[in-house]
Amino acid sequence: PEADRALVADLLRAVPDFPKPGIRFWDLTTVLADARGLAATTRLLGASLADGPADVVVGIEARGFLLGAAVAQELGLGIVPVRKQGKLPAVAASRSYELEYGSATLELPAGVLEPGARALLVDDVLATGGTAEAACGLVEESGATVASLAVVLELPELDGRGRLAGRPLHTVLQR
Ligand code: PRP
Ligand code: MG
Repeated sequence: PEADRALVADLLRAVPDFPKPGIRFWDLTTVLADARGLAATTRLLGASLADGPADVVVGIEARGFLLGAAVAQELGLGIVPVRKQGKLPAVAASRSYELEYGSATLELPAGVLEPGARALLVDDVLATGGTAEAACGLVEESGATVASLAVVLELPELDGRGRLAGRPLHTVLQR
């Protein structure tokens, strides 16, 4: 795991002043484009199962789709997308939340998350935790449970962890 972690840290890129001046954007494009980087990231996120077994992966738009599908394949699970508002044809539930920059609404598709399912949520970055909190809320509102939230990067200064109210959090790197 330490070699995997070092590789991911090495490939990760910080882009200054995106999407607004003063915001430092952590960009995983350079990690995912690298075959060994993608494999290492997938292994590290999959290790979140140590927090508890999962029946399904939930990938959070947008980079959680890329990461979540790889993790689901690695673990032999299916994947459910949590999407930005207006993209899903059949919606089970929706939640609005504040972002580090702006606000947004996330939606869970209807008829795909079984009540009682243990969901492994996957995203790239945990910043303020608004996105993760909304996604966890959607999963729980549908009668499923959060086995773990797995993210590549946690930004501890913004205390997203504090908004998760004790739900298991699995972080690959902190910056
Ligand atoms: C970014 C990032 C996380 C979220 C973290 O997504 O990919 O999903 O912000 O921020 P938070 O912890 O403060 O909520 P973004 O909303 O930019 O959308 P995208 O993934 O669709 O590009
Ligand atoms: Mg995102």
